[in-house]
Amino acid sequence: EKDGFDHFMLKEIHEQPRAYRDTIGNRLLGAYPWVHLPELTLTPERIRLFRRVHIVACGTAYHAGLVGKQALERWARIPAEADVASEYRYRSPLVAEDTLVIVVSQSGETADTLAALREAKRQGAHVIAITNVVGSSVAREADDVLFTMAGPEISVASTKAYSTQLLAFYILALHMARARRSLPDEEFAPIVEALRKLPEQAEQALKQAEEIRSYAEEISHHRHLFFLGRGMDYAVAQEGSLKLKEISYIHSEAYAAGELKHGTLALIEEGTPVVALATQPELYEKTVSNIREVMARGATVLGIASPSGSRGDANLASRVDRVLTIPDTHPMLTPALSVIPLQLLAYYASTALGYDVDKPRNLAKSVTVE
Ligand code: M6R
Repeated sequence: EKDGFDHFMLKEIHEQPRAYRDTIGNRLLGAYPWVHLPELTLTPERIRLFRRVHIVACGTAYHAGLVGKQALERWARIPAEADVASEYRYRSPLVAEDTLVIVVSQSGETADTLAALREAKRQGAHVIAITNVVGSSVAREADDVLFTMAGPEISVASTKAYSTQLLAFYILALHMARARRSLPDEEFAPIVEALRKLPEQAEQALKQAEEIRSYAEEISHHRHLFFLGRGMDYAVAQEGSLKLKEISYIHSEAYAAGELKHGTLALIEEGTPVVALATQPELYEKTVSNIREVMARGATVLGIASPSGSRGDANLASRVDRVLTIPDTHPMLTPALSVIPLQLLAYYASTALGYDVDKPRNLAKSVTVE
């Protein structure tokens, strides 16, 4: 049942092109109205009346929410916040009928997420669930459900669930943008086209596995490392860092690249491995200057770049120790591709150290206690 792969995690990483195809399904159209989500009961009128979005989830699903928040704000022009579910209820969130709450959960059974959903409903919010499991508690209790079509995820470390959650957010954000008339017509076509290319591009991204394996072997001897990025890259850095900690037990921290000099830079010393994501054209120069800062303190840097993200600067490779390039896509969509090398990095670091990848210590696939 592992289809010839050594572990479920590796199998699930490789299923992402298929999972992307299935999650897109016939939800994207080549022309106006661009998005087709007949499963939603929400009317365009109601979508226009929302004044804020709260995204609530745990772990990896929360990291997908960090990307979703940016897509909703940029495209649907609606204030969006993302919270970890175990914190959300206790901060007395401002929820009312004009609030859209989006809960994200692969399993649909995570206790904190379910409790947040119930509280949001009690306060009159409209709740959309993004989940992978039909018939799960979250799917049954939400007002609306957007299913990810990842297929069963067995590995404790979540991979294809995260990446299909990203796609669900992108599609939902476009749907809301259309209802709210917040995105100019001419911007839909390139985004939709870029989304439709993702399955094939995910396949290309998987071809770098061998390169990543050798890098993973090197870093497996280190006790800690850093992931850096800005904007979308920072969001995906947090997921890469969680994945590595979860299955390789190597301590890592994800840092907003510009925040480094406010303390964390003190931890960089000769040979500290740093994975620096630099895929965002508008942030590229700034990220490169942060990369220089860590290199000046002796860090060895793996850069993750995208062709149009580096604004024609072909030199990232000469600035850092190694570079991996992800296939070219729309800047908002890069997490759907850049997460793939990060997943592979965690996987190969774990196998290099001889750990049981699919069953990391102390963890369960579904967390049903608060
Ligand atoms: O089933 P859920 O998506 O609600 O699970 C949430 C987290 O427990 C889960 O994403 C966890 O962080 C993963 N093990 C990370 O790989």
